[in-house]
Amino acid sequence: MTNQYIEAIENNNIVSKTDINGIITFVNDEFCKISKFSRDELIGKNHNIVRHPDIPASHFKKLWTILLAKKTYKATVKNLAKDGSVFYVNTTIFPILDDSGDIIEFVAIRYDVTNATKLAEKLKHRDRVMYQQARLASMGEMIANIAHQWRQPLSELGILLYGMKKEFKNHEESKKFDIQHEKSKSLIKQMSQTIDDFRNFFSPNKPKEYFFISDIIDETMFILKDTFKNEKIEVDIVCDKSVKMFGYANEFSHVLINILNNAKDAFCHITTKSKHIQILVKERNSNIQIKITDNGTGISDKMINKVFEPYFSTKHASQGTGLGLYIVKMIVEDSMNGKIEVKNDNTGGVCFTITFPKESK
Ligand SMILES: Nc1ncnc2c1ncn2[C@@H]1O[C@H](COP(=O)(O)OP(=O)(O)O)[C@@H](O)[C@H]1O
Ligand SMILES: [Mg+2]
Repeated sequence: MTNQYIEAIENNNIVSKTDINGIITFVNDEFCKISKFSRDELIGKNHNIVRHPDIPASHFKKLWTILLAKKTYKATVKNLAKDGSVFYVNTTIFPILDDSGDIIEFVAIRYDVTNATKLAEKLKHRDRVMYQQARLASMGEMIANIAHQWRQPLSELGILLYGMKKEFKNHEESKKFDIQHEKSKSLIKQMSQTIDDFRNFFSPNKPKEYFFISDIIDETMFILKDTFKNEKIEVDIVCDKSVKMFGYANEFSHVLINILNNAKDAFCHITTKSKHIQILVKERNSNIQIKITDNGTGISDKMINKVFEPYFSTKHASQGTGLGLYIVKMIVEDSMNGKIEVKNDNTGGVCFTITFPKESK
């Protein structure tokens, strides 16, 4: 009876036993199958042989606290197989006690939940991306509304000022007034230009088109220039006017805005040195390379590999979503067949290198 019972459990579960120190003393076939280790490679080893590096040490501390208190531990655990693949198991670990109530060993019974967990993660991820896209779309709508509401009063303001200019025509100070009128006119023009810029930026995708990179850089800088001027950040642009690209101009502008704003944020605590950003565009035989380098704080080695991950941010929640570079990478690599890389620059700051194939359809 007991044997049949054990057999039934073992056939349908992933089972292992360890001694009180966590050294493996038994594994069933299912355990070998999922972990891709042979029995010989497992017996006598510490159970952390299948530990996934993502699992923080605090998790194991909790596990040991529970087990040493002679309680049952239950969790869904992410593990690493011998071949580097990831598997998720719903795990229950029981301490086995002797007659006097001391722990002799631990028995762990698990079942594979890899597919369900991966699916759930994928859905969660897709939800977040969809949420972000919906947010961008509603932002686009909002901006289109503002643009619509402002266009009329802005042109009325232009007409009013023109009327005033006419009234003052024979006034002794009319020259002075004309100068003010010119300035007001250019402010109004700038305001409607800004509205157009934002509206274009958020407008729904158009088909891929040819555009001059330097035009888009100029347009983008037009949106950002006031903020950068206030923060005393100098942006140096080296780009041949003739460099043409095939892709989405709006998205490309989005990429620039994100990278430049991150550089701006990286300068926010710097007071001792002058703040520089360089945008360098080079045309090669088969590709176009865009390097954006700042002399800000740089990114620590531990974190530099994570900056393109969704929700990775070192900023306060009110300042960063951690989605900026994730979306940048998506635009560059998924929609425009390019590649984006990041490294620390020897000036102490960060350098992003974007490479686009010249003719990507
Ligand atoms: N130029 C930069 N200098 C220093 N750190 C940077 C730079 N660009 C990006 N980072 C780091 O990468 C993280 C992720 O950037 P991003 O995806 O745009 O998210 P967010 O800006 O919302 O934090 C930032 O929080 C920051 O730590
Ligand atoms: Mg950002």
